Amino acid sequence: MINIKNVPFFNYPQAFLSDRENLMKIFDDVGRRGAFIMQKDLRDFEANLASYTGASHAIGVANATDGLELAWMAIELHPGDEVICCSHTMLATASAIKTAGGVPVPVELGEDGLLDPDAVEDAINPRTVGIMPTQLNGRTCDMDRIMSIANKNNFFVVEDAAQALGSRFKGKHAGTFGNASAISFFPAKVLGCLGDGGGVITNDASLFDKIYQLHDHGRDINGDVKSWGRNSRLDNLQAAILNHNLQTYEKVIIRRRKIASIYQEQLGDLEELQLPPAPDENPDHFDIYQNYELQADRRDELKKYLSENSIGTLIQWGGKAVHQWENLGFTVRLPKVERFFERCIMLPMNMFISDEDISYVCEKIRGFYRR
Ligand SMILES: Cc1ncc(COP(=O)(O)O)c(C=O)c1O
Repeated sequence: MINIKNVPFFNYPQAFLSDRENLMKIFDDVGRRGAFIMQKDLRDFEANLASYTGASHAIGVANATDGLELAWMAIELHPGDEVICCSHTMLATASAIKTAGGVPVPVELGEDGLLDPDAVEDAINPRTVGIMPTQLNGRTCDMDRIMSIANKNNFFVVEDAAQALGSRFKGKHAGTFGNASAISFFPAKVLGCLGDGGGVITNDASLFDKIYQLHDHGRDINGDVKSWGRNSRLDNLQAAILNHNLQTYEKVIIRRRKIASIYQEQLGDLEELQLPPAPDENPDHFDIYQNYELQADRRDELKKYLSENSIGTLIQWGGKAVHQWENLGFTVRLPKVERFFERCIMLPMNMFISDEDISYVCEKIRGFYRR
């Protein structure tokens, strides 16, 4: 018999309180140095991010949405240029293409719940210039397929790796396959800061120069103005927090993979659920479980039932795919994506839940389907 518990989906105060002492030391140190904008902590973080992912270059930016947009701006989309992306993603993926001057073309998801390479091929036309896969929920797409389509057609690839720092496909880090990518450090991300934050990574020195200039008023690393630009810098204080959090990042990933395996053990036999792949299911994929998203029969009833039992769940992005937001002007129908949004739900997946909390969540889910 498990006692009644309260298992929130995510606990924002805990993001600060669970490490308050160290964070206060960081505030104190940065504050005393007056090191607020473009200081050593930011430079160190950029070097750490590049070294962790194996990318040649990293730039701290204000958030991942900006990072994605800056990447497409640096690539220089022209009016009418189409970029194929998923629809089962945050609006930011598509809006980055749009605000950089291109046309987002959302397509179907594949069996693995990620961008479907076959659907990408079907959507190619003379206006297509790029592909933008989302490395969703901390899992990297089949980048062999996506890169081979891109290489065959001379397309640009910007990866939306907002949810995927540390995720790997065949041993290679998410974000390092295409021309450039962006990662989010939003507080609920696996590597989170205490506010907005993002990073761009790239292996292309010339793209690095352009994105660097765009994010700092057109200035290059020496302060010379080379082009028009804007301000999308990562705060030095956030960078100092991220350097600190990066030190324990691998342990955090191990714990999240453990949580995923407990969910798998305790829910894997329920026919009403379609769980995400288990951590060791496919050796090509190393997933970091930014989210534990599954598909469930009677999803809305399940969500209500869990909420009545003080268990927080989330349906991503307001319960709609990108192409389903009427005001954005899409006319396409994507039945698999639409079906997915009728069934998807995310269970608590964070560093603040105990094994007992997870068992409580699973017990309640089993109880719901036994009723
Ligand atoms: C898939 C995806 N893309 C882009 C973003 C945008 O990141 P940010 O909030 O740092 O702009 C997010 C953030 O939640 C995301 O999940």
